[in-house]
Amino acid sequence: MSRVELAYEERGTGRPLVLLHAFPLSSAMWAGLSMRGRVIAPDQRGFGASALGEDAPSLGECADDVLALLDRLGLDRVALGGLSMGGYVAMELLRRAPERVAALLLADTKAQADTAEQREGRLRTAETVEREGTAQLADTMLPALLGRTALEARPEVVDRVRRWVGAATPATVAWASRAMAARPDAFEVLRATDVPALVIVGDQDVLSPVALAREMADALPQGRLLVVPEAGHLSAVEDPEAFGAGVNDFLASAF
Ligand code: MLT
Repeated sequence: MSRVELAYEERGTGRPLVLLHAFPLSSAMWAGLSMRGRVIAPDQRGFGASALGEDAPSLGECADDVLALLDRLGLDRVALGGLSMGGYVAMELLRRAPERVAALLLADTKAQADTAEQREGRLRTAETVEREGTAQLADTMLPALLGRTALEARPEVVDRVRRWVGAATPATVAWASRAMAARPDAFEVLRATDVPALVIVGDQDVLSPVALAREMADALPQGRLLVVPEAGHLSAVEDPEAFGAGVNDFLASAF
């Protein structure tokens, strides 16, 4: 184990909210949100300004990185949020250290493990980027990452996400794809997470659709569901106003 010391962005003061970004992006994806309180947004290992390290691919490593960051910042308990891969890491963190989470936000993510077909797809992606680099990755991923409204009518959002995807290194994309392929089902973790919890999903999310978000909200003892209209898988990027307002309302009622 070679613990990676995560780089992070931080703003605001007060109650801490830690936000974990999607694959294959970085903490930059949260920059458009206007949030109350103290927001801490790490770059997960290999992404943004954080090193990849040398551990075998596992989202447990990513969760341990976040726990080490909380220790470094002297934070016992935080509100923890994650979008998509960030949500998978949040659920891994809950599996390891539920006492560190005072409130939970899961966005455009899912608690199911991959199907065999999804797992094979990720392993193929890992091999392809190792062989050919990430030049084609944005073309492959964008139609699923963004909702049809953004794809058809918001070229500035498409360009921004394309730039972010293009910044990911092949080694990190391969590592994270293998780590996601190996993740276990997390419904048991959700059923045991009796803290205020909000599940957010874009109504055009094709990767983790509304029905799966509802299953997570139902599994969480204090789960609520917020559907963001005309947004896809990157709901926080496609409609930062609706996303931020939903999270601010949730945290105001949770504490
Ligand atoms: C993400 O947005 O983090 C990824 O799409 C997650 C996934 O591929 O399951």
